[in-house]
Amino acid sequence: MSTYSVKNNAAGSPRAMPFKKYKPFQPIALKDRTWPDQTIDQAPRWCSVDLRDGNQALIEPMTPLEKQMMYDLLIDLGFKEIEVGFPAASQTDFDFVRKIIEEGLIPDDVTIQVLCQAREDLITRTIEAVSGAKNVIFHLYNSTSTLQRKVVFGKSKAEIIELATQATDLVKTFIQPLEAAGTNVILEYSPESYTATEMDFAVEICAAVMEVWGATPEKKVILNLPATVEMTTPNIYADQLEYFLRHLPRRDLAVISLHTHNDRGTGVAASELGLMAGAERIEGTLFGNGERTGNCDIITMAMNLFSQGVDPQLYLSDMQRITAVSEACTKIPIHVRQPYAGELVFTAFSGSHQDAIRKGMAFVESGSDGAWEVPYLPIDPADVGGSYRETVRVNSQSGKGGVAFILENYFDVQLPRELLLELSPIVQKKSESEGGELKPDTIWNTFVQEMVDVEGPYQLIDYQIKTIPGEREHCSARVRVSESEIAIEGEGAGPIDAFVSALAKTLNESVNVVDYQEYALNEGSEAKAISIIAISDAQSSKCFGVGISPNTTTAAFRSIIAALNRLWRES
Ligand code: KIV
Ligand code: ZN
Repeated sequence: MSTYSVKNNAAGSPRAMPFKKYKPFQPIALKDRTWPDQTIDQAPRWCSVDLRDGNQALIEPMTPLEKQMMYDLLIDLGFKEIEVGFPAASQTDFDFVRKIIEEGLIPDDVTIQVLCQAREDLITRTIEAVSGAKNVIFHLYNSTSTLQRKVVFGKSKAEIIELATQATDLVKTFIQPLEAAGTNVILEYSPESYTATEMDFAVEICAAVMEVWGATPEKKVILNLPATVEMTTPNIYADQLEYFLRHLPRRDLAVISLHTHNDRGTGVAASELGLMAGAERIEGTLFGNGERTGNCDIITMAMNLFSQGVDPQLYLSDMQRITAVSEACTKIPIHVRQPYAGELVFTAFSGSHQDAIRKGMAFVESGSDGAWEVPYLPIDPADVGGSYRETVRVNSQSGKGGVAFILENYFDVQLPRELLLELSPIVQKKSESEGGELKPDTIWNTFVQEMVDVEGPYQLIDYQIKTIPGEREHCSARVRVSESEIAIEGEGAGPIDAFVSALAKTLNESVNVVDYQEYALNEGSEAKAISIIAISDAQSSKCFGVGISPNTTTAAFRSIIAALNRLWRES
């Protein structure tokens, strides 16, 4: 009987987690929601917040050089809106903003964004930082959540609105000289902890900010609605957004932006459902780096669009470079299962998956309609700089499909099914005994040892072929049989026939060729032929052998010798 007792898991028992400590999130009443029927058919406006102060809660914030590397990458990837820092909160950020402005490092079609709390001294300093820039998003925020009003600020709703509108007014006033000097300034307002705020209050405060700013259809305010801490399933976030948009006066004066976090692991899903609910802009980071569990992972979200046939409006085809720069700057390794980028995400170890991938690839290559239709691979790894070859890796879970794939794709060798059925258990056993993955070279060496350079009594030393009258061939050869060197001779319709009859006659072995194929292994001066032959003996046991040589006849003779040695080994 098991020592584990189910009773021990019951609520209230010593083993139960203290779940009673937590209250369920109360969803808003929105029975006639329409967002579930929407589909996402275009990319949102993306805004990277990778460069925020502290660079999104890194143990070691980026050095100025790393910040520059990350900034250059973001520009290369096609981001048109980049939050370049919180200049009033950090000297490094301030200096970085000045540097990219003064050194002309901001392309004309890129808008830099600067984060700032709703406080006069910070607003002044932030404006100082962005002076001389062409396009600026001034990102103003204050927390509006019920809990924070109660336990952090001790302020009423009216006082919080006052704080936000006064700050908006200050930005509007202080920014005027910059605008007069030609800077185009957009206001972004974030009711921080929006999802933990009463929805009607969130609407009220955003509407008040829009009014003070004097938003117009030409000068919209970005309303950024953060899930500062992710507290619900993503559908509830979408409900909150649909509710917000239905109640916001003058929806036409706002760009709705989302800023999700990933505390429940659904930051991307929440942003996706949020787009369905009517948002048009997404803030996030590469690979979801950010406070605690991180932000919305823009790479995953963009690649999700790509995999649905939607232009992601970002250029993510060199995933290795993106990963390398991100790891170098954040010092956080990318997980091997990170969607679209991890080392294992396009890899199949399971035999049945490998088989299906092989067949899917053959289907795509044999002229389907050009659409990607390969089982187990949501996208073509080549689209993100990967290679189809890397999709299949072999361990003890892999079957003949994996072995066939590696031999075909790394070594150009296509083996008949029967031979694969012989080889794959040998490879599997090797993986079990060595524990773990077998690299292509190990699989090749196993193949060579088992099928090509087979240990046994027979060895070909040399041979001569002569054409004789009657369109026949004469073969004289020297073979080693155990310790003795033997000269053999025979005739046949072709060299193989002649060699086999010489062997059979002299060695007194019954040898019949029952299967034979030969093809070139690779092109050019390195070209080699591979001969795959099956022979049967007097007991009609069928046995394969493989020979490889730049000379086709030598390849064929070696394959016969290999088959004889294998037959001997089995007898
Ligand atoms: O998560 C959050 O609420 C933020 C705000 C500053 C937008 O990062
Ligand atoms: Zn955030």
